[in-house]
Amino acid sequence: MSRKIFSKKPINDLLSSNADKSLKRSIGPVGLILLGLGSIIGAGIFIVTGVAAANYSGPALLISFVISAIACAFTALCYAEFASMIPISGSVYTYTYVTLGEIWAWMIGWVLIFEYLISASAVAVGWSSYSVGLLSSAGINFPTYLTGSLAMGGLINLPAVLIIALLTGVLILGAKESTRVNAIIVIANLAIILLFIIVSIKYINFANYTPFTPFGIAGVFQGAAMVFFAYIGFDAVSTAAEETKDPQKNLPKGIIGSLIISSILYIVVAAVLTGMVPYNLLNNAAPVAFALQYVGSNVVASIVSVGALCGITSVLLTSLFGQTRIFFSMSRDGLLPELFSKVHPNFKSPITSIMLVGTVAALIAAFLPLALIIELVNIGTLSAFIFLAISVIVLRRQQPDIPRGFKCPLVPWIPIISIISCLFLITQLSSTTLQRFVISLIIGVSVYLVYGMHNSKLHKPDDTEQDDVNLVTDPSLIETKID
Ligand code: ALA
Repeated sequence: MSRKIFSKKPINDLLSSNADKSLKRSIGPVGLILLGLGSIIGAGIFIVTGVAAANYSGPALLISFVISAIACAFTALCYAEFASMIPISGSVYTYTYVTLGEIWAWMIGWVLIFEYLISASAVAVGWSSYSVGLLSSAGINFPTYLTGSLAMGGLINLPAVLIIALLTGVLILGAKESTRVNAIIVIANLAIILLFIIVSIKYINFANYTPFTPFGIAGVFQGAAMVFFAYIGFDAVSTAAEETKDPQKNLPKGIIGSLIISSILYIVVAAVLTGMVPYNLLNNAAPVAFALQYVGSNVVASIVSVGALCGITSVLLTSLFGQTRIFFSMSRDGLLPELFSKVHPNFKSPITSIMLVGTVAALIAAFLPLALIIELVNIGTLSAFIFLAISVIVLRRQQPDIPRGFKCPLVPWIPIISIISCLFLITQLSSTTLQRFVISLIIGVSVYLVYGMHNSKLHKPDDTEQDDVNLVTDPSLIETKID
């Protein structure tokens, strides 16, 4: 059994399947950075900033952003090495499958399902707050029981459910992520953030910076674990690997470039926001718009809300899409029932996965409070990052000769620092989040032992479908490889 559960997917199969692809390589470094920013900038900066400032970091919110950015930077270097070595639209799931073996890949796949799913819910809750705020400033008010979960003083978060339903429909129709649409949204989003900074800077009142750390240093670290959410998404750059010109060079530029730009923006926004408004007033679900209204800039508040809605929608689409992708990969590998990789004959999209993902994400968004959802997303992502860093160290030892377009510097030290910083951030999350996460891992292992282990295609070398399986480990090929 132990041989079975630790069996590894041969890396050469992945590399040769990549050689077989015929997608046009058209995206350069700028396109990749825009793609990264499209997946990164969303609910985090527009919503989590408020929760984190009011409850944990206080005016030291910018320090929390810096701490979190440092942890992400080490991870981004590890990601860049993998993305340049196995330039397929993989994820840590695929990377772990080739380095550490099936059981670990399963666990990561499980964690990623968990992460994408609830991250979509969190982002939808954010979308809801901004849309409700915007409509209310136009004089259209919804009853509160329809716009918040029980924990938020309502009954059901209907706008969050509706946006998930809408985007689930878009995904079923087989919409592919369009780099052009993404680029427009990102540029609009960046313009809105810059507008906020320029308009708001003159309202900074230095008195608002004291006390700087009302919840102590511990609060600043807890805030860092919370705002980590805002950085999630830089890994999405690797999903465009097959369409990237010179992926070995450009993928690392895209991953690291988008992380640097978002970090700078976040730190400046955090500094401005906490300077404009006393930190304790920021505990609301649309803090950036609130801050502008607080200083009397209602028109800019509405403009920023529209921009926030666009940015949040693009992140939401990416999370829902990423989720179906991972379901698809795991199902093709036999670790989940085949049902999840069934492609609709007309729409060419994995309809069962999409429907399941949409339904569960909508239920979570409808009934759970935002802070809880965000903590769960963060713990899932941080664990995946830890596995990624371990995989870099392991693959350097096991397969030192595979060409790596980008090499993470100072291995094993950078990956080790990445592991330690992610572990540290995990310890800053609440103990209930840790408990919930451990329970989900136990359920995950049980599902693997009962189902995945017995159905894995890796253990059926005579299976005539094996070649096909390797060819479509990358679900972005759904449309091109499967009929
Ligand atoms: N980083 C993404 C966001 O902030 C998840 O919405």
